[in-house]
Amino acid sequence: MLLQVEDLHVTYDTVYGTLNALNGVNLSIEEGETVALVGESGSGKSTLGLSIVRLLPPNGRYSKGSIVLNGKNVVSLSGSEVRRMRGTDVFMVFQDPLNTLNPVKRVSTQVLEALAVRAKKENKAFDQREGISEAIEKFKDVRLPDPEVLIHRYPHQLSGGQIQRVVIAIGLLLKPKLFIADEPTSALDVTIQAQVLKLLNSLKSEYKMSVIFITHDISVAYVIADRFAVLYGGEVSEIGEVSKVVKSPLHPYTKALIESIPKRSRKEGELVAIPGSPPNMLSPPTGCKFHPRCPYVMDVCRTENPPYTEADERTLRCWLYERPPT
Ligand SMILES: Nc1ncnc2c1ncn2[C@@H]1O[C@H](COP(=O)(O)OP(=O)(O)OP(=O)(O)O)[C@@H](O)[C@H]1O
Ligand SMILES: [Mg+2]
Repeated sequence: MLLQVEDLHVTYDTVYGTLNALNGVNLSIEEGETVALVGESGSGKSTLGLSIVRLLPPNGRYSKGSIVLNGKNVVSLSGSEVRRMRGTDVFMVFQDPLNTLNPVKRVSTQVLEALAVRAKKENKAFDQREGISEAIEKFKDVRLPDPEVLIHRYPHQLSGGQIQRVVIAIGLLLKPKLFIADEPTSALDVTIQAQVLKLLNSLKSEYKMSVIFITHDISVAYVIADRFAVLYGGEVSEIGEVSKVVKSPLHPYTKALIESIPKRSRKEGELVAIPGSPPNMLSPPTGCKFHPRCPYVMDVCRTENPPYTEADERTLRCWLYERPPT
């Protein structure tokens, strides 16, 4: 097992009090596997990604649980161990890629820095000219226009979508064991999106890389993922094979999410919103966090959070599939 997240709790200190962003997340990922992390805004997707790369903001805290990546517990690594882990064990493309690149250095300089780190870790000699041509090849793979020219520019001379693809290309050059992509295609236009998705998909076979793909967009997740993990209120409400979860969702929240995919038969661009709003994580509802929006709500749902249950080849948290406590 490459990644094993167990009972992970993460909080943020805020002026309004402690916000419980992750509340007992379990997630395992095998080598070469792609897991799509889906869920509404605020469900904790980015927090989970940042937790895995040990890049929570200063007000974020691991309050309970463990994250074992390639045999090491990320939560308790020292600063130098964390630096060694990044780029080798894991690489993350952030949701807001604009801050990822250093604004005062040319793209070429930053690419060479990344490649120098890789060479050092692999104990190999490093040749700058070879590095640049290797980078240009990767830039072509992510469909960056005029890569030979673009590589010598500064980040502010690139568009948001181009910066995102530069960051994805740097990630690919580093060949990490786990590649975390947080909404990597939302700033890209549809044809480029499809190309980048295809490329990420090919990683699985080419590099045996594992991918965590964070997205709002279920149709995108469907194309790329082996498994689907649905996050709600900082908990995994349902996780299983894509074919199982998408074709026959069990959890009422998953059902609502799948329903919200625009169908071809529906009018162009018409999105079906899920009624109600996501929970306020400063004062989440008691019991199951989805109960205020759930069409199947029962008494027990209002007071008790359901445990993890195995049903129809997946894991989920829902009282409908569990005998309520007596
Ligand atoms: N730096 C922070 N300080 C305080 N609260 C935060 C911080 N970052 C995130 N949160 C809160 O933590 C919860 C989870 O946020 P997170 O960004 O992980 O959600 P997300 O699923 O990535 O959402 P989105 O789809 O909008 O990117 C939310 O309630 C959010 O408001
Ligand atoms: Mg996010």
